[in-house]
Amino acid sequence: MSRRILVTSALPNANGSIHLGHLLEHIQTDIWVRFQRLRGNPTVYVCADDTHGTATMLKAEEQGLTPEELIARVGLEHARDFRGFLVAHDNYHSTHSDENRYYCELIYNRLKDRKLIFTREVEQLYDPERNIFLADRFVKGTCPKCASEDQYGDNCEICGATYDAMDLKDPRSVISGAKPILKISEHYFFDLPQYSNMLATWLRSGAVQPEVANKLDEWLEAGLRPWDISRDAPYFGFLIPGTTDKYFYVWVDAPIGYMASFKDFVDAGNELTFDEFWDAKNNTEVHHFIGKDIINFHALLWPAMLDGAGFRKPTRIHTHGFITVDGKKMSKSRGTFINASTYLEHLEPEYLRYYFAARSNGTVDDIDINWDDFVQRVNSDLVGKVVNIASRCAGFLGKQFGGRLSDTLHDEALWNSATAARDAIAAFYESGDTGKAVREITALADRANQYIARQEPWKKIKDPDKRDDVQAVCSQGINIFRLLVIYLKPILPQMAAKAEAFLKVAPLTWADLETPLTNHTINSFEPLFTRMDRKALERVVEATRDAQTGVGGVTGTAASTSPPETANTNKSPATIDIDEFSRVELKVAKIVAAEAVAGADKLLKLTLDVGDHERHVFSGIKAAYNPDTLVGRLTVVVANLAPREMRFGVSEGMVLAAGPGGDDIFLISPDDGAKPGMIVR
Ligand code: 2FM
Ligand code: ZN
Repeated sequence: MSRRILVTSALPNANGSIHLGHLLEHIQTDIWVRFQRLRGNPTVYVCADDTHGTATMLKAEEQGLTPEELIARVGLEHARDFRGFLVAHDNYHSTHSDENRYYCELIYNRLKDRKLIFTREVEQLYDPERNIFLADRFVKGTCPKCASEDQYGDNCEICGATYDAMDLKDPRSVISGAKPILKISEHYFFDLPQYSNMLATWLRSGAVQPEVANKLDEWLEAGLRPWDISRDAPYFGFLIPGTTDKYFYVWVDAPIGYMASFKDFVDAGNELTFDEFWDAKNNTEVHHFIGKDIINFHALLWPAMLDGAGFRKPTRIHTHGFITVDGKKMSKSRGTFINASTYLEHLEPEYLRYYFAARSNGTVDDIDINWDDFVQRVNSDLVGKVVNIASRCAGFLGKQFGGRLSDTLHDEALWNSATAARDAIAAFYESGDTGKAVREITALADRANQYIARQEPWKKIKDPDKRDDVQAVCSQGINIFRLLVIYLKPILPQMAAKAEAFLKVAPLTWADLETPLTNHTINSFEPLFTRMDRKALERVVEATRDAQTGVGGVTGTAASTSPPETANTNKSPATIDIDEFSRVELKVAKIVAAEAVAGADKLLKLTLDVGDHERHVFSGIKAAYNPDTLVGRLTVVVANLAPREMRFGVSEGMVLAAGPGGDDIFLISPDDGAKPGMIVR
């Protein structure tokens, strides 16, 4: 019995470009969708742009456009970018659509009828020049805790404190610069606490990963609060029925956008019905793929709203972590905040699809990209292992046997062991642990290559008595290659299509794992996959760095949580003479342990091997580095700095790092070969 499945990725904001963070999520989703289809489960994949809210309104204004013009333009770009990465949404819609307005009003009216909506007065900062209420990110001021200037209304990037925008010292509106005033207005609330018990049960039904359920349990235990679902005019969004100046908060209509996109898809003409997927009675599945920064909206508010309005709840929320690059948050100035379109100008989409698949494990762990690892895995796994099997075997078959495959398998045990992996590989795909699926598949490729190496067809071909043997060995190789193509097809659809043409077969499905390809003639071999050029990757990083001022605003998506970077305003210090400099003792140190310091927002505690002993140094690099990625790394320490007593312990020296601070800081490292304790001069 096949499953019927509806799948979504989080809706990208219409006020910014598609970048690596979105791509991780949409590629993970697309792989899962393609896997389901390969297995014969009819699956629909929809998405849309998340268009509403103050940010869209201001962005449009900045560009001299109406919000509608802006979202139309961005919607086309987003859909194009995803297509470029072979992400095959069945429908890419917009939350600014008739369907979405219809379902927002329907859900709201049902909640209202069930007495789940109430109003209450709320006091909020207000820009008296622009006549607009100010969300936290539209207010800046001086941190109430550490007195750093120019901090956003919700948290301080310098000391990490979180606070209420009203507590900022010297607050100002980011929109006009005016000093905000406090103003009261009536807001609409959804009575979320009524759903605490329902949510507690639903969360333990397998609807979320265990670590996500644990996090949500903490929130449930702390007690849910009614949820503010309205925003005052001016706002770009949908009016709440029965009001003239109250709009649905963007986070109300965003998830409803999943329904709207599906409805639009159904209306375009196919055999599906809306109710089939959204009516609580039907035995269909709804899966949402999201980043860990938006768990609360998807796993608390959304199921409660659906339940309250008589719709079904999601089957499963698949949550992923953030992206880091070389252990650091993505950054425009480092050239790692890479946009989809920049990548596609220089590199193949399947390189990234493969790498993301290889690095994903179905948990909320962050995914660290390392460019050397990226190039190495693509070139050695895909080109060096998988494609190599086909290219080694196809030459002999084409030239010597007219592309004819043998009638029987030469090594049935090898075939059986490769097909026996199918259930394990399927389970890895199902749970999003594509990293393990890829490891399993590449291990099979290794075995096939070892088999070919043992059989030495290039030697046997010289012996006329062994011609049949060569055909049999190469046919076996092609058959294992065909299995690998099936296994990899969700990740590499383009490569699979080329392989199908080469093998002269209909589109491969999971069921094709059952039978080998024998007594069949294949086409001549065309390169299926080209090696990645490291220089092209460097061009992507450079182009990203160069374009740093042109990148659109990105808010709220998983990978976009890095705070905006601050400009380097350091002044040059006065010159010193060589004697003064020679008093500074710089030594190579190896980081043997690194950990966050409880209670310190910026510091990491580093244990350094300086050759003849170890010492501890506290370093303000926490925003830029995941401590785990620092272990084993070499750096330079000011070794004769007087020890300093700090609140958390004694710091015995200082490590050298460059950059303005925050997440934009670069630890200085000597080249490989330097040894701990070496004097730096
Ligand atoms: O975080 C974001 O980028 C939001 N635009 C995601 C919305 S997902 C869904 F609820 F629409
Ligand atoms: Zn602060």
